[in-house]
Amino acid sequence: LNNGLARTPQMGWNSWNFFACDINETVIKETADALISTGLAKLGYIYVNIDDCWSDLVRDSKGQLVPDSKTFPSGINYLADYVHSKGLKLGIYSDAGAFTCQVRPGSLFHESDDAERFASWGVDYLKYDNCFNLGIEPEKRYPPMRDALNATGRSIFYSICEWGVHDPALWAGKVGNSWRTTDDIKDSWARSITSYVGLTLIVLIMTTIADLNDKWAAYAGPGGWNVGNGGMTYQEYRAHFSIWALMKAPLLIGCDVRNMTAETFEILSNEEVISVNQDPLGVQGRKVYAYGPNGCYQVWAGPLSGQRLAVILWNRCSKTGSITAKWSALGLESSISVSIRDLWKHEYISQDSVGSFSAGVDAHACEMYILTPLTETQPAS
Ligand code: GLA
Repeated sequence: LNNGLARTPQMGWNSWNFFACDINETVIKETADALISTGLAKLGYIYVNIDDCWSDLVRDSKGQLVPDSKTFPSGINYLADYVHSKGLKLGIYSDAGAFTCQVRPGSLFHESDDAERFASWGVDYLKYDNCFNLGIEPEKRYPPMRDALNATGRSIFYSICEWGVHDPALWAGKVGNSWRTTDDIKDSWARSITSYVGLTLIVLIMTTIADLNDKWAAYAGPGGWNVGNGGMTYQEYRAHFSIWALMKAPLLIGCDVRNMTAETFEILSNEEVISVNQDPLGVQGRKVYAYGPNGCYQVWAGPLSGQRLAVILWNRCSKTGSITAKWSALGLESSISVSIRDLWKHEYISQDSVGSFSAGVDAHACEMYILTPLTETQPAS
C-alpha cells in the first residue's frame, strides 16, 4: 500500500503472543519503558502494539468503540501520548468482522467511525483480524478500512491479519502495508518454523510480485514473533530469528520484554541480523538449496543492497553436520571471490572465498552470513 509506510518491515512488539487477553495499560506502559531502557527501541523496535481485548465488550450508546474501563481506565489516547513522549508508536487491534476473535466488537460496517476514533486517539498502527467475518470475502472486507484510515488524514500502518486464507499476497499489496501469510506462530520448534516454512516460501514469490506491482510491500511472515517465551532452545530461537529476518518478516517481538533473558536479548538485538531484515533493497530471502536426509541441510539466501548476499546455513536435521553453500546455488558466478562475515560471531571468517564455503552447524541451529563480492576496483589489502 502506497501510504508512505513500511518501506522496510515493521519492528516492534505485540501483546498477543505472551499476554493474550491478560493485558492492561500498565503492561503497555511498562513495555514501552522496557523497549527504551533495554535499547531495543534504538535498534528499531518502535511499535507498541496492543492486540485483542483492549476494548469493552459492547459499543457505547453512540455506537462507538470504548476501551475496557477496568483494564484501560486512562484510555487509549493517554497511552498514545505516553508512548509518543518516548519516541515510540502505538498500535491497536480490530477485526474485519462482526466481532474480534475474543468476541469484542468488530469493525465490519463501522469502518469510518472506528478509523476516526483510532486517528483521534493518536493511534499509528492497526492490526485488522479476520474472525466472525460473516462469510464475506476478505477482498471485500479489508479495503473499506484502508479507505477509512486514509480518509482520517493520519498516517496509520495497516496490517492485514487474514491468516493467509485467501492468498493475501495476491491482492493485499494494494490494500495493506503488510499481510499475514500463515496462522499464528507458536513458541515451539515444530510450530514456529518447520511447519510453516513451505507455506511461507510460496508467499515469498508472490510478495515479490506484489513488490513490483506496488510501491512496496515487505511482508511474508506471521504477525508476531515469539522469541523468548521458553519453548525453544537458544539455537532454535536464533534460527527462528535469522530465518524470519531473512524472509523480511516484520520483527514484532512476542515475549515479555520487561523480563527477557540475556540470551533472548542477545538474539533480538543482533544489529547485523536486523540490518539484513531492514535492508533497503527489500527483497525476501528464500530457500535455495536443500540436501541430505529429507533435505534437512538447507541453504537460504537473499540479495542485499550493494551487490551483497545474505546467506543462512540451516541444519534442520537432528544431528550436527557440515553444510556447504555452492556459488551455483547462490546464483554467483563460479569465479567470483567474496568476503564472508558471520553475523552471529560478528567477525569475518574469510576475505577471499571462491566457489563454495562450508560450516559445521549444530542440530536445529543456523549460521548467518553476508557475502560481499570483491570487485577488481577494490585495492588489494
Ligand atoms: C487471532 C490472531 C491472533 C490474535 C488473536 C486475538 O487468533 O491470529 O494473532 O490477534 O486473534 O484474539
